[in-house]
Amino acid sequence: MKKLYAMLPEELGTINPDIYGHFSEHIGGVFYDGLWVGEDSDVPNIKGFRKDAIEKLRAINIPVLRWPGGCFAEVYNWRDGIGPRDQRPVRHNWWDYEDGRLESNQVGTHEFIDLCRLIGAEPYFAANITSMTPMDIRDWMDYCNSPRGTTTLALEREKNGSPEPFNVKYWGVGNETWGGGGEMTPEVYAHEYRKYAAVLYNLTRFMGGELFVSGANGMDGDDWTKRCLGELRKVHYSKMAGYTLHYYCGGMECRGFNSDEWYEQMRRADKMQQVIDKAWGFIVGYGMQAEAKLVIDEWGAWHRRGRPSQGGSGPSNGMNLYEQQCTMRDALVVGWNLNMFNNNCDKIRMTNVAQLMNNIQSLFLAGGEHCITTPAYHVFDMFKGHMGGTAIRTAIDNPSITYKSPKDGQNKEVKQFTTSASVKDGVMTLTLTNASLKKDETISLEIVGGKAAGDAKVTVLHAENPDTVNTFEEPDKVVPAAAVEMPLRYIKVPRASVVTVEVKLA
Ligand code: AHR
Repeated sequence: MKKLYAMLPEELGTINPDIYGHFSEHIGGVFYDGLWVGEDSDVPNIKGFRKDAIEKLRAINIPVLRWPGGCFAEVYNWRDGIGPRDQRPVRHNWWDYEDGRLESNQVGTHEFIDLCRLIGAEPYFAANITSMTPMDIRDWMDYCNSPRGTTTLALEREKNGSPEPFNVKYWGVGNETWGGGGEMTPEVYAHEYRKYAAVLYNLTRFMGGELFVSGANGMDGDDWTKRCLGELRKVHYSKMAGYTLHYYCGGMECRGFNSDEWYEQMRRADKMQQVIDKAWGFIVGYGMQAEAKLVIDEWGAWHRRGRPSQGGSGPSNGMNLYEQQCTMRDALVVGWNLNMFNNNCDKIRMTNVAQLMNNIQSLFLAGGEHCITTPAYHVFDMFKGHMGGTAIRTAIDNPSITYKSPKDGQNKEVKQFTTSASVKDGVMTLTLTNASLKKDETISLEIVGGKAAGDAKVTVLHAENPDTVNTFEEPDKVVPAAAVEMPLRYIKVPRASVVTVEVKLA
């Protein structure tokens, strides 16, 4: 029996609901024959978007959705995506060298805002600073946010069917500017950021909005963060409301993994803590913590074989670029990272898992009339009680699991459990991942500084074979079991599972 303590008096901060955010890029099958089927499609849709997905997204209270990239953002001219759909230009997509797909621009600003309104999410726009000027982006902001009947661009928006402003709050200034977003040095980017911020900031002051600095690439990011923030702090850093990070863990096969590859995947997911700690260290070190928190706007397990030539692992057999299946291993990565984000909620403003449909670490796989949820979807569903809650500290008997690194055969260690807990409206939500492939566990939960009003309500996501996936033919192979009541001292946590425990407090 393992002991788990939930320390009610030890509050870590409020879990910003935006920590449960998502990302949708114009890449592969995320939009076309993914989220978007078009208004004339036989597939049930609302305003051209899959009805099924909309309903399921509403059910998990998705708070924020990032768009239109990723790297795609760096070749995106927002003007291509407004006006009558049948007159919109077809362009090269940033990614067409990978899969030969062109961009039809059928989903543009108005359609994306429709999607956000339908699912109840705030839009988060990634602005193109590689191939558009600060004034182009300022025009996009003006088009989206100016009050009805004011500017020429507000009138154009009205002519295009949307008199009321879109009120887009979040604006990323560039994407991966160390790579696809301009291949800049940190100092060059800091200079570019200042230019864009100088032009955009006044509009955000007038109409509301936040600017995010495009930050570092995960584990390689220390030097970037140090130099970029070091340069920014000299002038204008107060215009920064968030510092973005990307960290993908993965790089192994998506399916058919052995136990070493399973544990190695957990260890790679766990490295996110170092990414957070280092970036936050610089923010605090430079005294910027009052202005800027972390925005981890791309994260997830990105496995091999996502390209058409490699056959993929998802239902499109590689046709949808980077589409991958989602096993219990991926479900644990999601739970692992969400627990970590909850426990670091004092540092994290927002996160956006990559990507919503038919791509990396997706919540949905779709094509034609099919649209199924993955185990990752179910984890978001099981964790939604944390959104807006007050995080409290947890501690658990947490043995290390030793395994052999698939890379070099050396012994490595990873912890068995991750946990987090929060309190909202008199209910404590506690979530766990059990990485052990062998040990079903019984957990004894002790609430420190408070009392439960009754038994715990426990929901478990588990599959006998952790490599099991949901498919178009069998969409419910991996779904959470119906919640059951368990005494606090005997909470069953199966091996290789994600578990939610809800406790009403007395
Ligand atoms: O999510 C896929 C790609 O990964 C994004 O376009 C880019 O920002 C990152 O490298």
